[in-house]
Amino acid sequence: MTIENEEDLRKLKIIGRIVYETLILMSKKMEIGMTTIELDEIGKNNLDKYGAKSAPMVTYDFPGYTCISINEQAAHGIPSERVINPGDVVNIDVSAELDGYFGDTGGTYLVPPVDPKIAYLCQSTRKALKNAMKVARSGAKLNLIGKAIERTAKQTGFKTLRDLGSHGIGYSLHDEPSFIPNFYDPSDRRILKEGQVITIEPFLSTQAEQTETEDDGWTLSTGKNNFSAQYEHTMVITKGKPLVLTEL
Ligand code: CO
Ligand code: CO
Repeated sequence: MTIENEEDLRKLKIIGRIVYETLILMSKKMEIGMTTIELDEIGKNNLDKYGAKSAPMVTYDFPGYTCISINEQAAHGIPSERVINPGDVVNIDVSAELDGYFGDTGGTYLVPPVDPKIAYLCQSTRKALKNAMKVARSGAKLNLIGKAIERTAKQTGFKTLRDLGSHGIGYSLHDEPSFIPNFYDPSDRRILKEGQVITIEPFLSTQAEQTETEDDGWTLSTGKNNFSAQYEHTMVITKGKPLVLTEL
C-alpha cells in the first residue's frame, strides 16, 4: 500500500510496534527444552493482549500464530512438538493485523553453544538488511534492494535464497509491490515511491539457493546441513532513510 494520510501512518505504527514487541518477547522467552508450540503460545498471548490477529492465520489459514523455523527450515515453520535444543538456529517471524493494517517482522536467534560460522551468517544477514535499507528511497529502482542483499552475501561468502523475498504490505500481508527478490534482477523496472509500505527481509544461507516445501505443505526447508538467517522490518519509503515501523 501507499500511505495516504496521518491515520494510515498512525495505525501502521501501532501494528508495527505490536509485532516487534511480540518478536522480542518470544526471542527472550525462548529456552532449551521448550516446544515451538509453547513459544508460539507466548506470541499468541501478546497479540491477544492488543486484539491483534495473526496475519498468516487470517490470510492463509496457517496452522499457527507465528512461524518458527529451526536449522534446515528457512521459513513458514509450523509451531509443533519439536523441542528447542542446544545449538539450534531458530527463526521467528511475527506478522499480524489490527484495524485493517498489517505489520511483519522476523529474526534469527541462536541457542548456545553458538557456531561462529552461524553467528557470522546472522551478522551478514543483518548487514544485508542495513545495506538494502540504505538504497531504498523514493525514486530509486526497486531492484537495488536485491542488488544490495546479493552483494552483501557474496562479500561475506554466503548465498541468498532466491525463491524468498521482501514484499509490499499494509492493507494486506502481501500487498503491492509484490515479490522483491533477494538478488539483483536487471529486468525489474519498478521504481520505489514515497509513502510505499514494504518489508525488507534478506535470507542468507550457507549453501542452498532454493527452498523446498516439506510434506506438511507449509515449511520451506533448505536441506540437511544448510543453515539460513532472516531479519525483517516493515518500513515506509521516503525521500531519505526508510521510516521503520517495526520498532518499540
Ligand atoms: Co515476516
Ligand atoms: Co514478510
